[in-house]
Amino acid sequence: MTQSLCLPTVYLNGEYLPLESAKISPLDRGFIFGDGVYEVIPYYDGRGLRAREHLVRLQHSMDELYIQNPYSVAQWETVLAELIVRNGGGNLAVYIQVTRGVAKRDFAPPVGVAPTVFLMANPLPTPKPEIYANGISAVSLDDNRWLKCHVKSTALLGAVLLKHESNLLGGDEAIMFRDGYLTESSASNIAIVKNGVILCPPMDNLILGGITYILMIELARKASMPIEIRRVSRKEVRTADEIWIMSSTKEVVPIVTLDGKSVGASIDAGKPGPVFKRMLQLFHDYKRSLPAAGSLAKAAE
Ligand code: PDD
Repeated sequence: MTQSLCLPTVYLNGEYLPLESAKISPLDRGFIFGDGVYEVIPYYDGRGLRAREHLVRLQHSMDELYIQNPYSVAQWETVLAELIVRNGGGNLAVYIQVTRGVAKRDFAPPVGVAPTVFLMANPLPTPKPEIYANGISAVSLDDNRWLKCHVKSTALLGAVLLKHESNLLGGDEAIMFRDGYLTESSASNIAIVKNGVILCPPMDNLILGGITYILMIELARKASMPIEIRRVSRKEVRTADEIWIMSSTKEVVPIVTLDGKSVGASIDAGKPGPVFKRMLQLFHDYKRSLPAAGSLAKAAE
């Protein structure tokens, strides 16, 4: 990988080193089985957005996979802070990848093997103004991933293929349904707006409980915006006034075309809607209020 794709200093198993020097065994279970978990934490001017919540979700993912967390929260925070400084601060997406480690190939998880820990800090490209102004397109696809989508696993082939299929069908993103109900996109959560009410699928095992999603729900409630967390049918999505996707790398982005048809019924169909614009404003206000770099612990209190 070249430096243009990734900033130079990474962290691997206790060492900070140039990306080119970071080497992992081909017997790593992350490579052999996709046997690992990950997190993506956004940093703005070196300030983490809900970094503590990402670390809590990392713990939950490891618990689900019976992987012992090699670090305490304080140790993770130290590594994160150091990596950000070594990569010059600014706007970064920090990836934490933890696998079950290196072992002879065997389906049964090995005992007493240290997990592999890898972190990299990529530039965080926040959406361009034209994305906010014009929105993006999506296609509906059946969600054929496994039934533990609440685990942020590195085994992402289902999501990779769904993303690819949505692109082959001419969409920017996939909007996925299981048994006739909305789940999420391949790497983002989804909310729709119907008659002024924001409708959000529940955070069960069928979706990842997104940190951005939870934040948006909190911000909407604080601003007294009508919001319901419940199952959302395919028909409701098809007739939605607005559809948005949300994630740590995308923030919140409006979907304005679904399966080749404009989203919304009013004269503003096919354009980002008013509830999206309000939510985007609330999100940007929240970002501006983030505590200064170095006060991760305070931010979580
Ligand atoms: N994706 N759902 C899925 C399937 C995701 O992969 C993600 C995040 C989200 C949103 O979660 P959060 O708000 O915590 O980022 C929802 C990340 C960005 C990725 O895999 O690169």
